[in-house]
Formats: sequence, structure tokens, C-alpha cells
Amino acid sequence: MALTPEPAPTLQQLLAFYLEAGVDCALGDEPINRLAEVDAVPAPAAPRPGAALNPLRPPPPVMPSVPRSEIAVAPDAAIASARDAARMAPTLEALRELLETFDGCALKHTATKLVFADGNPEARVMFVGEAPGRDEDIEGLPFVGRSGKLLDRMIAAIGLDRGKAYIANVIPWRPPGNRTPTPQETQICLPFIQRQIELVNPDVLVTLGNPSTQALLGTREGIMRTRGKWVDYDTGTRTIRAIATFHPAYLLRSPSYKKMTWLDLRAIAKALAAANM
Ligand code: URA
Ligand code: URA
Repeated sequence: MALTPEPAPTLQQLLAFYLEAGVDCALGDEPINRLAEVDAVPAPAAPRPGAALNPLRPPPPVMPSVPRSEIAVAPDAAIASARDAARMAPTLEALRELLETFDGCALKHTATKLVFADGNPEARVMFVGEAPGRDEDIEGLPFVGRSGKLLDRMIAAIGLDRGKAYIANVIPWRPPGNRTPTPQETQICLPFIQRQIELVNPDVLVTLGNPSTQALLGTREGIMRTRGKWVDYDTGTRTIRAIATFHPAYLLRSPSYKKMTWLDLRAIAKALAAANM
């Protein structure tokens, strides 16, 4: 029985497929045919005159030339240079400039903007999320999309606003298509957020959701178990009271957990009031 060939996908179907796969932004004005690039690899150089051709040892492959920005930095070297650089940053502005020039995290090359922080660096409470999404990537500010609006309401629930809170993410560049950051990307960016916390030096640190909690508080359990419990966060120079709560993006999907979040926010407000005395 002859199989009827599938009709070719329409442009709309193709675009919908890309969108579903997380391809939702253009990286350049001109399309690049990566497959054609592979074909364009130059032929191996002719052997040097007089060099014996060894049939058992083929000439080394010629690597296609890759733009510098796409060369993956060796992870260990990237982490080491990130740690050194972050530790030396004397101010938040210096830390931001270090990130602007840091080339150890590939996410930077697909992101539009560095998303460093929002709010007041003098704030007594600091919220840390996972990584910027599409809206944040466009604006260069954390939590400005839908979950950001909910975070604003969470902050309002403890009687504050962005002028009295400081907001950042573990990862300061948007992962393409909002994919989950890899453990390696998290490790590379960790020294920067750790230094950021140390420089802001809040009285209370709030981690939003699982990834941020596990990265910063070193927990292995899920958010259902870690949330709402005070732990000590050691900056190296000081101990800060830290607490995890649900990520606002999760609360948008599962509003029933807002009740528990409310309890966490009450505990935060109480801790801030106590630290004020
Ligand atoms: N989710 C995050 O974790 N951070 C943002 O900045 C926005 C959404
Ligand atoms: N998973 C997360 O990462 N965060 C939440 O808040 C809930 C589930």
C-alpha cells in the first residue's frame, strides 16, 4: 500500500513548532544557514612538500572556524575566573561591570541584556529568583513580567515596594527559550550572586522557588519542605537570616499555595521588624 506523503508544513506550523521548542527570539538580522557552514569547511591543507604521507595517521581534521563568541570556555577556567573576579568587586557597580565583560557563561551571547538587579541596594530584604525571562531580557530588569507583578504584590504584603527591597536572580542572563539553566551555568554564575548578596548585606534573604533555594541555601530537598524555615546564610563575613518561599511563577499556576506563601511573608515581616529594634 502506497503511503501518502505528509503535506509540507505551512509557515505558521513551522513557526508554531519553533515557538514550542523555545525559539522565540531573533539573534541577528540575517538568517545563518548553519548546515551550509559545515559544507563550507575548507579542504585540509596540502601536505608540506617532502612530508611523508602516513596512511595510518590521517592528517588532523581542520576545524570549521567559529566566531570567538561561540567558543565554549573551559568550565573550570570560567568558574575560577568568575570566582576571582567576583571576590574582588568592591561595589555593586563594579560587580555589574565585571558581569558586563565576563565571557565565561555562554548564556550571555544569546541574551539581549544583562539583568543585574532592581530595587534599592540599601534595602533590608533581598529577593533572589532563578533567571530572567523574556520580558526581563528585553527590559534588563528582574521580575518585570507576569510573575514580577505577583512578586510586587508579595512585597506589598510585607508593607514594602521596590524602593525598599532589592531583587536579583541567580543567573543574570535569560536562558534561550526560558529553558532551565544547566548546573554548570548555575555554578559559573554563583560567585557573582553570592558577592551581590554580600555587598547588599540585607537583614533577610528570600530565595524564590527551588532552583534559587538549592543554589544559594545548599538544600537538596524540594521547595515544599524547605520553604518557610529560617536558615543561616553565611556570606563569609556575616550570617544573614534566609528563608525560601514559592516562586511567583509557580503561584500563578498553583494559586492554592498562596496561603503558605502568605505565612512565609508574615514570618519575613516579623523578622524585619525584630531586626529593626
Ligand atoms: N523568573 C525569575 O526567576 N526571575 C525573573 O527575573 C523573572 C522570572
Ligand atoms: N518548583 C519550583 O521551582 N518553585 C516553586 O515555587 C514550586 C515548585
